[in-house]
Amino acid sequence: MRRFYKGADISRVQSVAEMAALARYRLPDFAWEYLAGGAENEQTLSCNESDFAKIRLTSHTLVANYPPELTRSLVGSASALPMMIGPTGFNGMLWPQADIALAKAANVKKIPFCLSTVSNASMEQVREAAQELDFWFQLYGLKNAQLNDDLLARAKAVGVSTLVITSDAFVVGNREWDRRNFARPRQLTWHNKANVMLHPNWVRRVMFPYGLPTMGNLNPYLPTYEQSALGAMKFIQEQLDTLFNWESVARIRDQWHGKLILKGVLHPDDAKQAVKLGFDGIVVSNHGGRQLDGALSSIEALPAIVKAVGGDIDILLDSGIRRGSDVVKAAALGVQGVMLGRATLFGVAAGGQIGVSRVLDILQEELSRSLNLMGVQRLDELSPAHLYLS
Ligand SMILES: Cc1cc2nc3c(=O)[nH]c(=O)nc-3n(C[C@H](O)[C@H](O)[C@H](O)COP(=O)(O)O)c2cc1C
Repeated sequence: MRRFYKGADISRVQSVAEMAALARYRLPDFAWEYLAGGAENEQTLSCNESDFAKIRLTSHTLVANYPPELTRSLVGSASALPMMIGPTGFNGMLWPQADIALAKAANVKKIPFCLSTVSNASMEQVREAAQELDFWFQLYGLKNAQLNDDLLARAKAVGVSTLVITSDAFVVGNREWDRRNFARPRQLTWHNKANVMLHPNWVRRVMFPYGLPTMGNLNPYLPTYEQSALGAMKFIQEQLDTLFNWESVARIRDQWHGKLILKGVLHPDDAKQAVKLGFDGIVVSNHGGRQLDGALSSIEALPAIVKAVGGDIDILLDSGIRRGSDVVKAAALGVQGVMLGRATLFGVAAGGQIGVSRVLDILQEELSRSLNLMGVQRLDELSPAHLYLS
């Protein structure tokens, strides 16, 4: 990994991997592991990237057509790119007001942004900061039905267009680094406390003046003595509905009258069930390798899902997108677009909104250039014929 030093110029960062290196340099170990780590042996985490690398692109030469057309409809949302920013929790540990930085960068690029249930900024704060944003909200299955209803009512009130139900995290994945970094729940080990002190800029930015940020969406439901980020983490883990099933999502379908997406689909039968229940879209995802280790990579799971439901429902994909050419490969296999997870988080951790915008610019340029070099004018020309699988 390339090394970076204090004061590195974000505009000179050339790739998502370089942005990751800069984020690594700026974050204390425990925050970096939270961002970059996966479950157990991290096999799925690493396959998410290496399986993209196994796919080769075919190309036609001498087709001059720069720049290609990149606009796309993502489950009915008009997007300037076949990508959007997906839901991630606790972003405020990476940069102050990170949710707002991500939302604003998405708004500038004219792509949708999805806020997590466990975000630090509340949905009302995000809407206030980015009034034109195509705003999506991600919901976990929670035990307390009233809490679910209230979150849905708030999402509707702030003009959320699309609700994303995350189906693959009703129990939290086995993230060993998380337990290793804490001596007991909510208490960093001495080693990690010392490591935090080696990152005074992070301490100044993120911890002053109030400590780790609280969870805006959940604060109204927390007892006063638990009004902290870590209190909210405990609360949400207790609230995750381990009995969350197809009946539960059918109930949400009846309650929510906007567009509805199921995130965390890896099996064609589940994709068919989502079509049957009237979902508008699915996200083929393994949660960035943070849940079931050994699960298929998303790009590996995609062809069977497209075969089962392609044309019946919009398909998005996440997990492992680090280059514009990854977006080309996913689109050629049949997705409308991709959700960005760590790619834009590396940007926000390295430099707030400027870092996110730089990542989006890099991916856009890479996507444009790849299509041009392949002799493809428009995204919808892409098909499996553009791929070579060795
Ligand atoms: C730090 C972090 C926090 C995440 N938090 C959430 C979350 O709150 N809700 C959710 O549905 N997915 C969450 N995810 C999963 C992402 O939405 C997405 O599926 C994943 O990051 C895609 O993989 P990639 O990071 O390799 O691109 C999180 C991922 C990361 C890296």
